[in-house]
Amino acid sequence: MVLVSGSGTNLQALLDAAADDAFGAAVVAVGADRDDIEGLARARRAAIPTFVTRVADHDTRVAWDAALAARIAEHKPDLVVSAGFMKILGPSVLDAWPVVNTHPALLPAFPGAHAVRDALAYGVRVTGCTVHLVDAGVDTGPVIAQEAVAVRDGDDEDALHERIKTVERRLLVEVVGRMAREGWHAEGRHVRFGRAEK
Ligand code: GRF
Repeated sequence: MVLVSGSGTNLQALLDAAADDAFGAAVVAVGADRDDIEGLARARRAAIPTFVTRVADHDTRVAWDAALAARIAEHKPDLVVSAGFMKILGPSVLDAWPVVNTHPALLPAFPGAHAVRDALAYGVRVTGCTVHLVDAGVDTGPVIAQEAVAVRDGDDEDALHERIKTVERRLLVEVVGRMAREGWHAEGRHVRFGRAEK
C-alpha cells in the first residue's frame, strides 16, 4: 500500500506499473494525511481503496500513528511505500510493516522536507534521489537504491525537483518491483534483493 500527501506522481508510476501482472505487486490501498489531494484522486480513478488519517483529528502523534496503523492493517499489505508522504511515521506503523520511502536527494545529504531547496542553497553540482527503508529517524534508514541528477546552471527548486522526480519515479518502480518479485533482506545497513539464505 502507498501513503501520499500531495500530487502523487510517484503513486501514479506504481499504479501504472502494477497494471501489468508481471510487475509482481499490486497497490492494495492508498492512505493520506489530508483530503483533497491529487494523490487520492489518482487512487480513486484507479479504483483503489483510499483513507485519510489526519494528525489534527488525534490528541497526540502517538494516537495518530496508532490510528494510521489500524487503517493500514485493514488492507493487510506486505509493504508500505511512503511516496511523498510528508509526516514522520512512528512505531505503530514501523514495527508492523517494512516501509520504503523515496527522498529527493542523495542521502545522507539533505534529509528532511526541503531537500531540493537545501541542495540548491548548498551549491552542489550533483544531487539525486534515494529509495530507502524507513527507520525511526528522519531519512536515516538503510539505502536501497540511489541515482544521481546533475544540477544545471539556472535551475530553480521546481525545475530541479521535476528532473529529480522523473528519475525518482523510475527508481521507485524498479525497487518495489524487484522487492516483490525477488524478495529482499537487510544485512545491517545493506538491503539485498533475494531472500536471505537460511
Ligand atoms: C517526491 O519528490 C518525494 O520524494 C518528495 O515529495 C515528492 C512527491 O511527489 N518527498 P509526488 O507526490 O509523488 O508527485
